[in-house]
Amino acid sequence: MSALGNTPTTSSIPSAEDDGTRVDVLDLVKSYRLGEDSIDVLRGLSLTVSAGEIVSIMGPSGSGKTTLLNCISGIDSPDTGEVLIAGKVVDYTSERARTNLRRHNIGMVFQFFNLVPTLTVRENVALPFLIARQANGGADDRVQNLLKRVGIEGRADHRPYQLSGGEMQLASIARALAHQPAAILADEPTGNVNPAVGRSIMNTLRDVAKLEETAVLLVTHSPEHAAWSDRVCFLKEGVIAAELNHDGDADNVRPIHETLLKLGI
Ligand SMILES: Nc1ncnc2c1ncn2[C@@H]1O[C@H](COP(=O)(O)OP(=O)(O)OP(=O)(O)O)[C@@H](O)[C@H]1O
Ligand SMILES: [Mg+2]
Repeated sequence: MSALGNTPTTSSIPSAEDDGTRVDVLDLVKSYRLGEDSIDVLRGLSLTVSAGEIVSIMGPSGSGKTTLLNCISGIDSPDTGEVLIAGKVVDYTSERARTNLRRHNIGMVFQFFNLVPTLTVRENVALPFLIARQANGGADDRVQNLLKRVGIEGRADHRPYQLSGGEMQLASIARALAHQPAAILADEPTGNVNPAVGRSIMNTLRDVAKLEETAVLLVTHSPEHAAWSDRVCFLKEGVIAAELNHDGDADNVRPIHETLLKLGI
């Protein structure tokens, strides 16, 4: 039993030699071709996120943060390099393998929520269970617990259009957690909400990392939100140009501002 309800059966089970690494990015290279031109976005980027760890990625607009998350989740494929999720190498040659990776081992939080408009909040959050064919097995219990955890249990029977932007993002975070993935990838989860909701989202993501032993990798432009992380990675010119071992003290923003300034981000 997890801290948030019943544990789904198909979640990744760490092997005996599990060292706690949930996301392992090795020497990732990705370019986009636009006619004659090629834009080199990732140039040999490496990064790891462990179980229970929350890591923020910061970097200039266009530096490749979304590209990195898309390569990790299998939405996009790198030119070279390797990604391991919970110790398993992502197979970019198989569409089916990549879909299964997202269904079972990765929870995604998008900047613009991506909720299904015709479903209620409860149904949206239960969706990962249904897609992974775990329709029974404690889904109701877990969905209820997740809604409570993110603080929108009173909105369970509303549809997305009846929610505020912040509530939609909280619902999408609950949905990303439903199938208890090894890793949560969140692209600017606090980008479209007010500061109070932003703090609540960061608090939730940090709790999730700690309580569920999930690896959380998120992109943010906000030093205030990055300050909730254990580590901040600064992406510049295709690689992690600097890394800050942060203490997760949300009030300790200064070293993040200083690093951004030093790197000219
Ligand atoms: N499918 C694509 N085809 C061509 N170029 C692309 C594609 N996707 C992204 N790019 C380019 O790759 C670069 C990195 O884009 P990406 O979206 O990863 O940046 P980002 O760091 O997430 O920026 P932002 O902070 O604005 O969200 C940009 O220059 C972008 O124009
Ligand atoms: Mg982006």
